[in-house]
Amino acid sequence: MPVGSRRTPSRKGSMADVPKDLLDQINRLEELFTVPQEKLKQITDHFVSELAKGLTVEGGSIPMNPTWCMGFPDGNETGTFLALDMGGTNLRVCEITLTEEKGEFDIIQSKYRMPEELKTGTADELWGYIADCLQQFIEYHHADEELDQLPLGFTFSYPASQEYIDHGVLQRWTKGFDIEGVEGKDVVPPFEAALAERGVPIKLTALVNDTTGTLIASAYTDTQMKIGCIFGTGCNAAYMEDCGSIPKLAHMNLDPSLPMAINCEWGAFDNEHKVLPRTPYDIVIDKESPRPGQQAFEKMIAGLYLGEIFRLVLLDLHQNQDCKIFEDQDVSKLSKAYSLDAGFLSAIEEDPFENLSETHDLFQNKLNLICTKPELELIRKLAELIGTRAARLSACGVAAICKKKGWTNCHVGADGSVFNKYPHFKVRGAQALKEILDWPANKGKGKNDPIEILPAEDGSGVGAALIAALTLKRVQLGQNAGIRDPKSMLAGTKAAKKGTM
Ligand code: BGC
Repeated sequence: MPVGSRRTPSRKGSMADVPKDLLDQINRLEELFTVPQEKLKQITDHFVSELAKGLTVEGGSIPMNPTWCMGFPDGNETGTFLALDMGGTNLRVCEITLTEEKGEFDIIQSKYRMPEELKTGTADELWGYIADCLQQFIEYHHADEELDQLPLGFTFSYPASQEYIDHGVLQRWTKGFDIEGVEGKDVVPPFEAALAERGVPIKLTALVNDTTGTLIASAYTDTQMKIGCIFGTGCNAAYMEDCGSIPKLAHMNLDPSLPMAINCEWGAFDNEHKVLPRTPYDIVIDKESPRPGQQAFEKMIAGLYLGEIFRLVLLDLHQNQDCKIFEDQDVSKLSKAYSLDAGFLSAIEEDPFENLSETHDLFQNKLNLICTKPELELIRKLAELIGTRAARLSACGVAAICKKKGWTNCHVGADGSVFNKYPHFKVRGAQALKEILDWPANKGKGKNDPIEILPAEDGSGVGAALIAALTLKRVQLGQNAGIRDPKSMLAGTKAAKKGTM
């Protein structure tokens, strides 16, 4: 490629030698997975009304959870905080010191593997394992020290309804987690009990969604940041609403101008299947998932599902009498559910060779399948269609929040494996935003756009710590809305001793 040139987000490829049966299938798939401009606009408009509905007393399918994170940091936050991130693959523990210098911090962190069995184990095993990791962290980094209670921001990236910031009733597991006895209950008491059992000097200050952490961490360094998004194993967004626009909080008589971060939980958008162009493959994904009927939007977009959609299409084509693909080959590996991840699709889309030789090798090594050139062309096209659909649908969510709030110019902080690693995701999203919002021809390239989606700061580390800091500051100022027990939140912490932060 010449210096300065950019790869286009889709490949022309040569379809000249592709036999008619495969070409017909390619056209059919293109039809199924393409979301044209008008559809994007229709989805966005419906999304805007669903965001509003989620804030009402009756509610809708998007939970729109108030998080009790009530404001942005101003850079003058100080103190030492722990942050815990319970991700799908790792558990990360950080100690973050927000220093006297405005907007600066020091961080130390350790990662622990999250054993796969935990995801479908028991609640006791989960909380016990997490508490063990925190204990190890404290013992390793603070051996033989007399510690005050350390305030903790716990990033729990699942839908939780919060009456207080240190409270969270799990609405439902997402992203393949299925631990019995947790849904419908406050996750904080069993977590705190596991810490107390081990005598770990930690006080949970804030239960944080990863999107809220992302929003706050990003706004810490960029005041134009208005939305925090995760495009990873799951997908979701958070933004700052004003309390006056949250009818379901009206009974609390909060000052209507007070800010309140809303964890949208937009993965649940269109659970009633009114507007999203679902394919038969999306329907299978849903049916076979641990929570059918939930997370309709997420299941078309998030990293956990992209590889599975791709696998289901290929298997269906193999079984389809109308076309010949992987003929007379052993498809046992391809038949295994969830055997392909989004990284597999990324690798296909990144194959730089005209003859798609890397894709050929990938199929041979991973699936034991030898592909012909026309099959490779179909495979590449399919990956492109699935990846592009995910990026374009994601843009509908971002555009909907901006439309709801009347924001025409702002930054959006995004994190997650799909955003950071999936080829062309950003530019495909920007192109879709342009189509939805009717930007001029020179916009929508992903740079200097009116609404620009940028890589976020560390939400589950610095973001969670900042939210803990903001919470303690609020308690000290006597602003106790959404704090379960202000006295006990401060008890034993350094903040209580000093009286100030
Ligand atoms: C969860 C959200 C989370 C998102 C991204 C979704 O499955 O419900 O709480 O923010 O994944 O991690």
